[in-house]
Amino acid sequence: MIFLSAFWIMVPAYIPNPAAALLGGGTPIDFGKCAKDGRRIFGDGKTWRGLIGGIIVGIVFGLFQMFLYYTFNLTFLPEHSLWTIIPLSIGALLGDLIKSYFKRRLGKERGSKWPIADMYDMVVGSLALMVIVLLLSSGTAWFVENLVDPLGMLSPLVFGLAVLVAIFVVSPLMHRGTNVIAYMVKLKDVPW
Ligand code: CTP
Ligand code: MG
Repeated sequence: MIFLSAFWIMVPAYIPNPAAALLGGGTPIDFGKCAKDGRRIFGDGKTWRGLIGGIIVGIVFGLFQMFLYYTFNLTFLPEHSLWTIIPLSIGALLGDLIKSYFKRRLGKERGSKWPIADMYDMVVGSLALMVIVLLLSSGTAWFVENLVDPLGMLSPLVFGLAVLVAIFVVSPLMHRGTNVIAYMVKLKDVPW
């Protein structure tokens, strides 16, 4: 149940990256410009089409989750709303973009490996933006109402922390899994 809750919350954050790989290309976000160090600001791997397209597809998946939730009354799962799916989708690719900025500053080429950062950029970006938006829009209400153990065995605080830990465990697996699939269908040049 903890892992299912973690996965359900994170779907709108997992989708934008592979969607960007599918839809990306064209004008880079940095318009080909370099930073003072002579290296690209973000690089050719970060494009407007990937950013906008990825965010839209992430939100569409979130809307579909909301549809499933209300149609089948899935109240044992955390409840999504525009206040969760929009920041999760935007935050995932914003985290990815910020990571690429620092990756370039470290002199790492586009597509090169940067283990921990490549795996957690979208997790930190999406969760941070979601938490900020939820706190600003309705205080702690969403967390109190949605991070409740359906089996009633764990206190809300312990359950919430367990879901957070589960997100950090599940996410690298999801990241790795989608990248290997993207590599196999030749969407990506490297399996990471
Ligand atoms: N992509 C995009 N726009 C984005 C994010 C991703 O077009 N905002 C596309 C690019 O084609 C990119 C692919 O998705 O090559 C895979 O994304 P990612 O692994 O994040 O980029 P990398 O090419 O590895 O670049 P970096 O080294 O900057 O992470
Ligand atoms: Mg990469």
